[in-house]
Amino acid sequence: MTSTLITNIGELTTQDPERRVLKDAAVVVEGDRIAWVGPTSQAPAADAQTDAGGRAVLPGWVDSHTHMVFAGDRSAEFEARMAGESYAAGGINVTTRATREATDEELAALLRSRVADAVAGGTTYLETKTGYGLDVAQEARHARIAASEVDAVTFLGAHLVPRGADPQEYTDLVCGPMLEAALPYVQWADVFCERGAFTEEQSRQVLQACRDAGLGLRVHGNQLGEGPGVRLAVELGAASVDHVNYLHDDDVEALASTWSGWDDSSPEGKPGTVATCLPACDLSTREPLAPGRRLLDAGVQIALASNCNPGTSYTTSMNFCVGTAVLQMRLTLDEAVRAATMGGALALRVQHEVGSVEVGKRADLHVLAAPAAIHLAYRPGMPMTHAVWRAGRQVI
Ligand code: NIG
Repeated sequence: MTSTLITNIGELTTQDPERRVLKDAAVVVEGDRIAWVGPTSQAPAADAQTDAGGRAVLPGWVDSHTHMVFAGDRSAEFEARMAGESYAAGGINVTTRATREATDEELAALLRSRVADAVAGGTTYLETKTGYGLDVAQEARHARIAASEVDAVTFLGAHLVPRGADPQEYTDLVCGPMLEAALPYVQWADVFCERGAFTEEQSRQVLQACRDAGLGLRVHGNQLGEGPGVRLAVELGAASVDHVNYLHDDDVEALASTWSGWDDSSPEGKPGTVATCLPACDLSTREPLAPGRRLLDAGVQIALASNCNPGTSYTTSMNFCVGTAVLQMRLTLDEAVRAATMGGALALRVQHEVGSVEVGKRADLHVLAAPAAIHLAYRPGMPMTHAVWRAGRQVI
């Protein structure tokens, strides 16, 4: 197995259990793993050597919430929103129509180019969802295409009741034949539990059926108003509840209760329900930013994710999300970086594999075009990714 020593790292954010930031650090990558981390002066020999030039290095971003399997264009809907229209989930039908018309090859090529954009911005572990198929054959097709391009796939047949369908009949379809058809390709299930999408009862039915089929759970909740999403996610032990824009104090307390007693440094500890904040989506829908500060202060683990999708958040840029979280959500840089790395890893329950620069973990590294990570917020919108290592290979 070939090893590479990366030296002269100006600032290494490890996100290990001690949350160390090392100056003048070095990392040894062996095969697809991190084999050594420490000061450059003590670095062991390796087959090859590369100089980071004093740049900052972070764990690769873990983007735990995207909807990247889609075709078509909704820029006119976005423009109307910027002129004062409010976001309506009905736009999902527009994307569903265009996505159904795309061939397998077209959809795979579109997805591949979005994944490439994400990786070029420092994302090294990526989840994506179905949810623009909304019938049995299409949801299975989208799940299959997604499975060959990303690290984790989520079944979101319960994204919207298609136009003209009966809500209960459609929910039964999701829980039966649709779930069965998508199952070979997915690890997670999600439901859009919101006024205008799925009710609390329908959402519970979907989540229970998916859990019985062996899938991990996530919920789209409390995006457009207060509602049952967070409560339901906690009740069913979901790994994450995503959006979380409108939270009652009871929601925050319920989320915090899932983390009481969890030991960050124990490999055995089972994580609670992560609250995933999606700042790019909040800006694009002009919703209040998810209360990341309030959640952290209450003891909730949060994730930051791009929510790349054509309706509410057409970006793969985690650099942008981290900068925005610092500038607008009042997170410290360290909190924002953690949310976009370990936070995403906890939300996908892969915290022992990715999300930090630690010996034994996958060698996923993000070399910034800057000497310190604070430049992500200090120079918002500037090109900040210098190099990316994914599973031990330099890909950018
Ligand atoms: O996460 N909220 C539901 N789903 C997506 C939006 C989908 C769309 O409008 O196309 C989201 O924001």
